[in-house]
Amino acid sequence: MADKKEDIVLSIRGMSKSFGRNRVLDHINLDVKRGTVMGLMGENGAGKSTMMKCLFGTYQKDEGNIFLGGREVSFSGPKDALENGIAMVHQELNQCLDRNVIDNLFLGRYPRNSMGVVDEGRMKKEASELFRKLGMTVNLTQSMRHMSVSQRQMCEIAKAISYNSEVIVLDEPTSSLTVQEVEKLFRMMRMLKEQGIALIYISHKMDEIFEICDEISVLRDGNLVMTKRAGDTNMNELIAAMVGRSLENRFPPIDNIPGNVILSVQHLSTKFEPHLQDISFEVKQGEIFGLYGLVGAGRTELLETIFGVRTRAAGHVYCNGRLMNFNSAKEAMDHGFAMITEERKANGLFLKGDLIFNTTIANLEQYKAGAALSDSKMVKATAKEIKVMHTKCMGPEDMISSLSGGNQQKVIFGKWLERGPQIFMMDEPTRGIDVGAKYEIYELIINMAKQGKTVIVVSSEMPEILGITNRIGVMSNGRLSGIVNTKETNQEELLRLSAKYL
Ligand SMILES: Nc1ncnc2c1ncn2[C@@H]1O[C@H](COP(=O)(O)OP(=O)(O)OP(=O)(O)O)[C@@H](O)[C@H]1O
Ligand SMILES: [Mg+2]
Repeated sequence: MADKKEDIVLSIRGMSKSFGRNRVLDHINLDVKRGTVMGLMGENGAGKSTMMKCLFGTYQKDEGNIFLGGREVSFSGPKDALENGIAMVHQELNQCLDRNVIDNLFLGRYPRNSMGVVDEGRMKKEASELFRKLGMTVNLTQSMRHMSVSQRQMCEIAKAISYNSEVIVLDEPTSSLTVQEVEKLFRMMRMLKEQGIALIYISHKMDEIFEICDEISVLRDGNLVMTKRAGDTNMNELIAAMVGRSLENRFPPIDNIPGNVILSVQHLSTKFEPHLQDISFEVKQGEIFGLYGLVGAGRTELLETIFGVRTRAAGHVYCNGRLMNFNSAKEAMDHGFAMITEERKANGLFLKGDLIFNTTIANLEQYKAGAALSDSKMVKATAKEIKVMHTKCMGPEDMISSLSGGNQQKVIFGKWLERGPQIFMMDEPTRGIDVGAKYEIYELIINMAKQGKTVIVVSSEMPEILGITNRIGVMSNGRLSGIVNTKETNQEELLRLSAKYL
């Protein structure tokens, strides 16, 4: 019965889209059935987000037809799509950070009372009802700026649901959610399925795709190369469809040899919430040191405190035996520290700039010819990093905003590589990056370590933290609950340590 024609709620036929000379979608056909989840996978830049944006009316398609419930539709823009049964949670959050949760939820559709005045009481009531139904606790009057990325993402999902759409597109919604939040989201998705809603779910996470999807489609270079029922395919087949070849191992061999202690953190505590308490550890030169913990355990805060952007209350950081209690990121950078942040749009990228600007900005001194900046040096450096990172783009002059999410992350990586840092701290460096590119980043990390650089990497992905580190420090509720040798530990031990101070 699942194959009966009337079960198909959304049908995309022969959809194509180009940006200039770049053909991003090539005659795509896709059918999504009522009450099911369609997984959409593909490498960074394959065209997943573009396809969904064409559906949603953010972009206008060049060719093709879209049928919703058997009726042809063509949305002039997101508002039109929302009002006609399609909602979308975007990969890059687009919220008004200075407004609160309620405002963001009702933006563009404030309910008014009989006097024509915005009905704040009703907004509050509907919002709390919605979050209650979804099993979420959110401070409705808190401004978005003070919420974590994952909380903001949950708000965005709640907003999509609140439109009572027939089709909901979720573009990498779990990239910054905690394990518990993902479970909550999946419960929500199952609930929506039962109500007959169709979901399109984009993710690079294999295990999640298999857990929640009924069918899976794969995009490769703008072509839809496979659609199968989840039960009829497997991880290897998906990877082969995505990258066009099979990938033997997910992790390269860890063959770096750590040397002497280079970084020593002693009794570090922070002044403001969330508090870090009395954290001490040492990291060796040429070592890859992982930081594991549940979201909120303080891993990001620890990196930020070392990097000088969070206020210390007590403690010392030594590098090569010299005190390095930084008070600003600039100071840290001048002493050979680098940090890739978790939230790229807010902290890592200049969205109005091109790749050249975004690659060279942290390191301008290096590109001077006399007193002025040398364009050719900057272009050359950018081209080099594009090559090293296999960044999918037309060239150095591309605007960063025209790159796919995963490829933007690669540009950030390239920017820091240009600085040649001694201590490289990375917060969830492979978030949103496809399997093939992840492997390349792992290789890069291991090669850096082999060249004597020290890497501290925060990751919430258990296989990743176990796959690419020499040792792992586990954090729990602002404290360091243990340090283990990666070769001698396992998932259970990491989980036990991350719950130690809860
Ligand atoms: N506004 C734009 N202008 C020019 N090119 C664009 C624009 N948006 C996307 N592209 C190009 O379209 C291609 C597909 O990008 P898209 O964002 O759809 O990839 P994706 O499959 O969602 O990748 P990811 O997994 O990294 O999110 C990329 O090569 C990208 O550079
Ligand atoms: Mg995308």
